[in-house]
Amino acid sequence: MEKTLTIKYKEYPSVDALDAADAELVRQAIAATEGAYAPYSGFRVGAAVRLADGCVVRGSNQENAAYPSGLCAERTAIFAASAQRPDMRDYEALAIAGRNADGEMCEASPCGACRQALLEYEQHQGHPLRVLCLMAGGAVREVGSVADLVPFSFAL
Ligand code: THU
Repeated sequence: MEKTLTIKYKEYPSVDALDAADAELVRQAIAATEGAYAPYSGFRVGAAVRLADGCVVRGSNQENAAYPSGLCAERTAIFAASAQRPDMRDYEALAIAGRNADGEMCEASPCGACRQALLEYEQHQGHPLRVLCLMAGGAVREVGSVADLVPFSFAL
């Protein structure tokens, strides 16, 4: 029997169309691209996660000459948040922004490994963690839950 999955998401024409807290989160993700260490790919990614108490933790991609040793911006941010605030493993939203080697904004979307890592925190907290992705033209895509990005996910 053939079945179909559908994913609901929202698109906002610009960062300014978001509510104030989410707009600020996306701006924090853009600012976080400055912290990227990406000498190999030239692709600078920034992420910002907002905790339930309003605190924002930022991350950026960190590369290494031994390529697999690097880490994406999203996991840098969520792991830092979890490590620094174990008392507040309650995440409302995570924003992502990416720039290419010429400094132009590119579509940002979490890779498969980051989706799996984010999913675990979402499942741990028991309510959705929204994901805000800044697109090349300045629009923002909002997915209401990490689970929507990882159909048929792995679990232990
Ligand atoms: N990267 C991220 O930081 N996040 C993603 O979701 C996709 C990829 C980084 C990893 C690497 O440093 C560079 O972008 C190129 O893949």
